[in-house]
Amino acid sequence: MRIGVLTGGGDCPGLNAAIRAIVRRGLANRCELLGFLHGWAGVLRSETRELHLDSTKDILGRGGTILGTSRTNPFAKGREQEGLAAVRSAFSKNGLGALIAIGGEDTLGVALQLHRDGLPVVGVPKTIDNDLALTDVTIGFDTAVQTVCEAIDRLRTTAESHNRVMVVEVMGRHAGWIATQAGIAGGADVILVPEREFDIDQVCAHLTSRHERGRSFSIVVVAEGAKPREGSIEVRQRGRSDEFGHERLGGIGVTLEEEIEARTGFETRVTILGHVQRGGAPTAFDRVLASRLGVAAVDAALAHRSGVMVALRGTDIVEVSLAEALAAPKLLHDRLYETAAVFFG
Ligand code: F6P
Repeated sequence: MRIGVLTGGGDCPGLNAAIRAIVRRGLANRCELLGFLHGWAGVLRSETRELHLDSTKDILGRGGTILGTSRTNPFAKGREQEGLAAVRSAFSKNGLGALIAIGGEDTLGVALQLHRDGLPVVGVPKTIDNDLALTDVTIGFDTAVQTVCEAIDRLRTTAESHNRVMVVEVMGRHAGWIATQAGIAGGADVILVPEREFDIDQVCAHLTSRHERGRSFSIVVVAEGAKPREGSIEVRQRGRSDEFGHERLGGIGVTLEEEIEARTGFETRVTILGHVQRGGAPTAFDRVLASRLGVAAVDAALAHRSGVMVALRGTDIVEVSLAEALAAPKLLHDRLYETAAVFFG
């Protein structure tokens, strides 16, 4: 079988480990592997690269993706028919028996549409945001949490020296997984997530009472998608969207810095971690997860299963329905947030 592979959407550590696994498993089963460059853009423009043992050696621990990525949407408004025709032609021209799409909600949403249009597609879940349902974890999340935790550790020492409030803005469009996990690991005093509107008065009252109890600094972790209670404070948005209609986020930390300093009188500084969270070498956990998911994706393709996503459930790698996985984002579990709140001291 000839199998196509692409990585789409935001990159993350662990993509190369998944590509390597797909190539190894595929070659061992007498498959040919064809990489599409820059996500769906490579499918539309027929930009490809044959993948061999040689072209995928020494990439296990390398961040980013050797295939490149983009936020191109073949089904973007107004070009749906053209997009489908171009993907169909890429399948037939390249003699593909299956396409493995490594991506988050957007990339896998395209994969699902193609499956519904009769093309054989298998999904592999990746996103540092960890907001894909039916898998316990997505590729890249563990590394991002580790990166944020290390940043908080560093910010803590400077916060302590200057008696400051440190606001740490992290990624997380719909879900506060990174903020909460890294916040617990880094000992955050306040964690603000998209799933729970926050009240700036309560945040400031909490910081004030903490400082009245003798603490001289605080760490506030905020997810980029966190929302203040309506009518309270205004967060400046940048007003630019990608081809999937997602607004470019980032900046709530700056609003918080200004509001906290003005309302409490505590010197406050913001650090927006941004794309640092998506860069660098994957953790051992992400390398193993990506390797296991990559192998399972080839097995699904070889068994002619389409419209499935390989996933981690407990300690097992399983196949789940792409449609069900994409039905709704995986939001933060209340129990986890409540555990984090035990340490807001
Ligand atoms: O991949 C998801 C994500 O990490 C979001 O949390 C964030 O809003 C977005 O990517 C940023 O993407 P870009 O690289 O396009 O700015």
